[in-house]
Amino acid sequence: MVCLGNICRSPLAEGILKEQSEDLGLEWTVDSAGTSGFHIGELPDRRSIEVAKNHGIDLSEQRSRKFDSSDFSKFDLILTMDSSNYRDVIALANSENDKEKVDLLLNYAYPRENRNVPDPYYEGGFESVYEMISESCQKIIDAHR
Ligand code: 4NP
Repeated sequence: MVCLGNICRSPLAEGILKEQSEDLGLEWTVDSAGTSGFHIGELPDRRSIEVAKNHGIDLSEQRSRKFDSSDFSKFDLILTMDSSNYRDVIALANSENDKEKVDLLLNYAYPRENRNVPDPYYEGGFESVYEMISESCQKIIDAHR
């Protein structure tokens, strides 16, 4: 799960998909990263921690890290929160096979619409961001379990 800072959206996506997959006994490796290094080593934003906590999910063990090209060999699927993150990740791909692993997260809930998860860092809206991420995570599980 990839966003810009790895403190607002992608930590939520990591926490939600981990929870949903573990609930079904799936042994998936779920992780998140940012395309920028602005917040490396930091906890998720307190507003993401709070909204996740309200849904029974703990993000407090997460720390921000930067996405790098070695992630392509570690993961089968790389889902970005918006089209800017998508372009940044695609630019780091080593091969066509790498590029095929990348999609926008919301294409799971809204196929081929290329919708973005809005960045809540300045504008807020963490609950609605939570809901849209959660809906797509459920569809990921339906598609790949
Ligand atoms: P995120 O949100 O990409 O969902 O983690 C942001 C966090 C920090 C910044 C921008 C977006 N920033 O500019 O520092």
